[in-house]
Amino acid sequence: MKRFNLGRGFQIFVLLIFLAALAYAGVCESISKDKAEEIARYIADVIVAGRGIVAEHQDLINDPNKADKGFTPEYVEQLIRKRFKEMTGKDISELDPEAREVVEQVIAAAKMSVRMNQKRINQPGKGFKGYIPAVFGRETGQILKARCNIQIKQTTFKYRNAYNQPDPFEQKILKKFEDPNWPKGKGYGEFVNGKYRYLRPIYIKKACLKCHGEPKGARDIAGKIKEGYKEGDLRGAISVSFPVK
Ligand code: HEC
Repeated sequence: MKRFNLGRGFQIFVLLIFLAALAYAGVCESISKDKAEEIARYIADVIVAGRGIVAEHQDLINDPNKADKGFTPEYVEQLIRKRFKEMTGKDISELDPEAREVVEQVIAAAKMSVRMNQKRINQPGKGFKGYIPAVFGRETGQILKARCNIQIKQTTFKYRNAYNQPDPFEQKILKKFEDPNWPKGKGYGEFVNGKYRYLRPIYIKKACLKCHGEPKGARDIAGKIKEGYKEGDLRGAISVSFPVK
């Protein structure tokens, strides 16, 4: 019975991605060259905001004594919109149509990840749920790839998972970010073979420490090895790439 449920959940996930791809194909599958830098920045803003929100709500999500957490797609959406404004000084409704369309697609993908995980998040009697920033980011990226041909990766030299390993371009940019003179938070982008590639550095915040902080070598709540980072340390980057027209 259990196995059947799991399989079915996965089938629905695949079907949703497929339907999303059908419904949205073409809307955002390539981006104007002159808007690429700005739009890449906005994509990274939404991902960084969403990951931070998932990190800050870990205690709520992992509360075994509470069933309905209220961590709904709409709740997360409203926080993302608020943070986007704080980060960019702009309301999403004020962006030009192309940028706005892409940003709305990223938010829709983020909401879909939160929606797909409602059952897991609201499961009573269970502590750690495994709905962490990296999972949110990975799923949002998968949905966005299907809908828009926009690729998102969470990369770092100290990767826990091989698929987050930096490629040569990402290594080159991560090295720039490691330079103490690199302005904190500043991203970097380049046109590479018909694509725009952009990286935004991400730093360790308080909410990340319980899994990535000290003591180095101890296990975090996900059962993985802590890296021993301190608040403010460079953790890695959100890497965005998409075809340009
Ligand atoms: C609940 C524990 C937990 C919290 C909190 C957490 N992480 Fe992670 N993080 C993980 C795990 C587990 C992975 C490996 C996930 C995977 O399977 O891709 C990971 C992966 C990552 C990755 C991808 C690279 C890699 O190691 O494979 C980055 C980047 C990252 N985390 C940054 C952060 C930042 C920044 C924060 C705070 C905003 C944060 N994490 C909060 C557990 C956590």
